[in-house]
Amino acid sequence: MGEDKGGGPAYSPGLEGVIAGESALCEVDEGAAGLRYRGYAIGDLAEQATFEEVAYLLLFGKLPTRKELGDFTAQLQTQWPLPGSVEAFIGVVPPSAHPMDILRTGVSLLGMTDPDAADSPREASLRKSVRLLAQIPILIANAHRLAHAKRQVQPSPDQSFAENLLYLLTDRHADEQAKAMARVLNVSLILYAEHEFNAPTFAARVAASTLTDLHAAVTAAIAALKGPLHGGANEAVAAMLLEIKSRDRAERWVRDALAQKRRVMGFGHRVLHKGDARSAIIQRHAEALSRTCGDTRWYDIATIVDRIMQQEKGLYPNLDFYTAVAYLLMEIPRDLYTPVFVCSRIAGWCAHIIEQQDHNRLIRPRAAYVGPPPQAYVPLERRT
Ligand code: COA
Repeated sequence: MGEDKGGGPAYSPGLEGVIAGESALCEVDEGAAGLRYRGYAIGDLAEQATFEEVAYLLLFGKLPTRKELGDFTAQLQTQWPLPGSVEAFIGVVPPSAHPMDILRTGVSLLGMTDPDAADSPREASLRKSVRLLAQIPILIANAHRLAHAKRQVQPSPDQSFAENLLYLLTDRHADEQAKAMARVLNVSLILYAEHEFNAPTFAARVAASTLTDLHAAVTAAIAALKGPLHGGANEAVAAMLLEIKSRDRAERWVRDALAQKRRVMGFGHRVLHKGDARSAIIQRHAEALSRTCGDTRWYDIATIVDRIMQQEKGLYPNLDFYTAVAYLLMEIPRDLYTPVFVCSRIAGWCAHIIEQQDHNRLIRPRAAYVGPPPQAYVPLERRT
């Protein structure tokens, strides 16, 4: 870290531009590949891999062989059933609770019932990670179904992670359209899986650096993901597209929003100023899925918003923007968009927590004091 003119450590609001640690998990660059997970270009992974392969890559450091993938998938399936205490918790949450809040508390509770709860060696952390990867989709789906008086359904061992997730959240499976949707969901899960030191990942690493347990660190990450400046943006984009309603209203809506100095969700990024390679990938898939579904309304509105934002503000869409178009077509309930992000990013978070545990140093930055100058203490009876 550099020094300021006074000789102290340099201050960067929001830690912008600060290198806060080392990681072998992903490389964010604005060059041709845009993003690499453990050296593999995001475009190659999104177009050719399954989410299960990518989760394995992040957690275990290499792409799995066919046998390793089979074992990993089987391991995930054995972890599907939720502990009774977590099912009981889902039964008593207030009806108004946001799924991200249910997830945050649910993951914390999973930590208390985890068979490796008391252990933190690498192997135990990996077992906990696999359990969370398997259980988070079930937790989200069961809570949603109970809250909306829908029948509970079970994932199938014959379906992929994305196919099961689509089924659990929307009841869709088997037909050609559902298969096309699951393929796009698979792509979006791969794109969401990891993005170095964003706020929730950093929160997880800060927590992990105190040697707390993996579930505690993931709980911190979920709390940090919820806000609309980050994970909540995909849900906010869908709300915006629904509010705009039709393509003929889109241009006016954006111009009014900008005139009122409102933030248009799904645009801008703290690190990526020349565009997000993931956005171009999900845009292509959202467009193709719109045609497959015979409904280009949301995509058409989105491209108009995109054009005006680039023209007027020089801001590019981030991953959340066209993802919202795809999720609207899939009819994923809107308040589950950010939880779906968690279903994927849990792989990246757990890999980061394990990496932090492997090379730990307590994360403890300094603050620049801006409060009152030194003052004399005034006893209570003499204070006015
Ligand atoms: N809509 C309108 N204006 C935006 C904007 C957006 N989505 N994102 C940034 N800007 C503008 C800001 O108003 C600011 O303009 P100003 O200098 O005239 O005041 C300028 O761009 C810089 O924004 P700033 O908030 O300082 O950048 P940041 O690096 O802190 O912000 C985000 C990054 C992601 C928080 C921000 O772009 C944002 O709020 N985007 C919308 C939420 C979103 O999509 N989040 C998901 C991120 S992956």
